[in-house]
Amino acid sequence: MNGFAGKVAVVTGGASGIGEGIVQALLEEGAVVVIADVERPALDETLERLAGKGDVSGIVTDVSQPASVDACARQVYDTYGVCHLLFNNAGVGGGGVAKPWHWTPNDWKWCIGVNLFGVGHCVASFVPRMIDSGQEGWIVNTSSSNGGFQPLADLGVYAASKAAVTAYTECLANALANEDTLLHAALFYPGGNGLLETRLWNSARNRPPELARERPMVDEQWDYQEFKAQMQEKGVPVADLLELGRVVLQGIREERFIISLETVSNGELMRRRAERIGRGELPTVPTGSAFE
Ligand SMILES: NC(=O)c1ccc[n+]([C@@H]2O[C@H](COP(=O)([O-])OP(=O)(O)OC[C@H]3O[C@@H](n4cnc5c(N)ncnc54)[C@H](O)[C@@H]3O)[C@@H](O)[C@H]2O)c1
Repeated sequence: MNGFAGKVAVVTGGASGIGEGIVQALLEEGAVVVIADVERPALDETLERLAGKGDVSGIVTDVSQPASVDACARQVYDTYGVCHLLFNNAGVGGGGVAKPWHWTPNDWKWCIGVNLFGVGHCVASFVPRMIDSGQEGWIVNTSSSNGGFQPLADLGVYAASKAAVTAYTECLANALANEDTLLHAALFYPGGNGLLETRLWNSARNRPPELARERPMVDEQWDYQEFKAQMQEKGVPVADLLELGRVVLQGIREERFIISLETVSNGELMRRRAERIGRGELPTVPTGSAFE
């Protein structure tokens, strides 16, 4: 895709964090951006903050609900008649950290509902319309190193949701190529430019009451502020999320399937994993790393 000026882009979960970075990068390039986010107050605040930076609007959308996603797609097509870029970025952290046997049915329903079904619902509502328009376009799904390269033992539900996004996106990219469309799918792995200071660790703010956790967490909880202090001691900077958004757009320009600042080190991780798999071993050591 040559340039983003005038292109219509939908960014799910664009009212915060990494999604907002993508929105800002798109606005810098002159794209017309629609933020689809479930959190109305955050959406309103973000739109206010971005006022004057370009053509950006919002539609309150719950990606875990097919009817909500379809209403969003209808509104986008009624307004603009086209969608060139779909960023399936909305996601939740899964509700904390827990040993794999401590996740509850509602943890599964909520996390998989947003992170995986949400991507599927958006693809089902937007992609047929994108194909029918006959225009070139991109669908960029946000995964995580947890679902691509190194699942962390205490993030089982989240890692499972993102691994499924990784597999599904590969299917999508191949299917779009086989159908001879002008559409491409890509996977985005955030990270690589510092500490991702987003609100993912406070995802429960958007957890529907009917999917509340059935019982308190029993495992020791991970403390973001403690983690941040450790990272700062090591000299890790807070990531520039706008810069990360620019990386995503550059990945589209370069027609990459995998968009990441860590492609080379991820490739090395995968090589080590593949060697372990080839020997019939657990691909990661218990810390969740492929490195001993
Ligand atoms: N922060 C990290 O360390 C990290 C690392 C790798 C991948 N990711 C992924 O990046 C994406 C963005 O996360 P973030 O870190 O910016 O977190 P964030 O909480 O700051 O942003 C997530 C956005 O998704 C929205 N959202 C949540 N549930 C939704 C729903 N049902 N429908 C529509 N919108 C919904 C939230 O309102 C929020 O605006 C997620 O998919 C996340 O899994 C994050």
